[in-house]
Amino acid sequence: MTAKASSDGLMEEIVGLCKRRGFIFPSSEIYGGYNGFYDYGPLGVELRNNIKQAWWRDMVLRRDDIEGLDSTIIMHPDIWKASGHVDGFSDPMVDCRESKLRYRADQLFFAPVIVAGETIGYVSVVECPEQQEIAEKAAADIKRKAAKQGTLEPIVLKDYTESKPEEYDLVPSPATGKPGSLTAPREFKLMFETKVGPLADESAVAYLRPETAQGIFANYKNIVDTGRVKIPFGIAQIGKAFRNEITPRNFIFRSREFEQMEIEYFISPSADWKTLHREWIDTCIDWLVSIGLPREDISEDIHPEDKLAFYSRATTDLMFQFPHGEQELWGVACRGDYDLMQHQKHSGKSMTIFDEASKEKFVPHVIEPSLGVDRTLLAVLTAAYTQDEVPNDKGVAEKRLVLKFSPKIAPVKAAIFPLLKNKAELVERAQALYKKLQRRWNVFYDASGAIGRRYRRQDEIGTPFGITIDFDTIEKDGTVTLRDRDTCEQRRVTEDELIQFLEEQIDG
Ligand code: GAP
Repeated sequence: MTAKASSDGLMEEIVGLCKRRGFIFPSSEIYGGYNGFYDYGPLGVELRNNIKQAWWRDMVLRRDDIEGLDSTIIMHPDIWKASGHVDGFSDPMVDCRESKLRYRADQLFFAPVIVAGETIGYVSVVECPEQQEIAEKAAADIKRKAAKQGTLEPIVLKDYTESKPEEYDLVPSPATGKPGSLTAPREFKLMFETKVGPLADESAVAYLRPETAQGIFANYKNIVDTGRVKIPFGIAQIGKAFRNEITPRNFIFRSREFEQMEIEYFISPSADWKTLHREWIDTCIDWLVSIGLPREDISEDIHPEDKLAFYSRATTDLMFQFPHGEQELWGVACRGDYDLMQHQKHSGKSMTIFDEASKEKFVPHVIEPSLGVDRTLLAVLTAAYTQDEVPNDKGVAEKRLVLKFSPKIAPVKAAIFPLLKNKAELVERAQALYKKLQRRWNVFYDASGAIGRRYRRQDEIGTPFGITIDFDTIEKDGTVTLRDRDTCEQRRVTEDELIQFLEEQIDG
């Protein structure tokens, strides 16, 4: 029997496992942590690197039409003026003057409580899967306390960006439950500022990049001029991004320092962008499935035309079933020529390209698949986290916790066990195999405890293969036992068969 934890508890269980087994720690934990920042421990950094390497390999190395880039985190501040981030990259926020808590206005929901046609109060609730239920219960309480007779009208929640000035003093703060302490929604800038150089005045202000994409646009001309690219082609970049999120939450889902894997795919203005967009969406879905996400947990959220930014032709977000609900994982946007045109205007440098095939000169349009490394890692952990029952050493069914990572991204690829730790021949042979495999993959050697316990420790960190060296190995045919993490099936293989199998599973 296989089961996920209930979705309520799943996030807590994942956070607990990540801390216990050294995947992810709260940043600055010895000082009480730092909201919105996380550190990756020994297993976390391996998983993270494997996700990035798989993406780079599939999107850059195995494609002829995509080049790589690594641009700086701090760039000329004019880039952020041209891109529109300095003026427009903000979220509406609302403060509770009493509790000093700050909410994103679009994540704070409220509704009037109307009984027999009369508004007798307001309810408010912070966005969550149970928000309707919570609001209805609060409304029923208000009605009871007011001893008001009559029918309670349905509670219709709106987010706080839709509040009217006359409602600011009536909506209760979710923190105190009392009205009168919420401010009007105000725009809150999301870019982190810093100062570059010895001057401390306004001219020294620079920004930590909130996306890697602008580094690609800023280098587009360099790559066109120095590479052998021809339309259509892409530029890919993996790197840190920083956003002063008002409400970082849901573990690493929304943090203030995170990493992105972005591609700008440059196409002719006359290209069939709808087909290319569709192809990119499919490529992205296939990639997510290739690293182990179940296809049925991925869906598409097509942004309605009237909600698109003025420069955008279409955006589809790939959504994933995270423990806290279905949320955006990967945005695939058609941004037209907006960014390159803006940089052409602000820098005075031409962004046109000559297309040999059509003999035309133009500023290309772009399709932008933009994915967060940390969000992918959370999706991978969510999909992998499994509780099932397997027989122990004595054949008795036992509960186990197992991370069913794809071998491609599993932090540890295989664990090597000598059957007994006090038999020199077994230990020697196991050590030799361990050293050999270690030259190619991240493998683990464990000689302590009953073999079943050793398997279980590896199951919990998602090691797909267990390799045991026993007496048959040293006395008979040299074969080893290969155990599959998910089925727990064991079979004997020669060393050559083992290596070929690992190659197919890990590098394939
Ligand atoms: N260049 C386009 C861009 O940055 P975005 O939708 O703001 O678009 C793209 O971000 C992806 O980056 C998201 O789909 C998500 O995976 C990731 N991301 C964005 N903000 C994040 C945050 N605060 N924490 C973690 N990941 C984030």
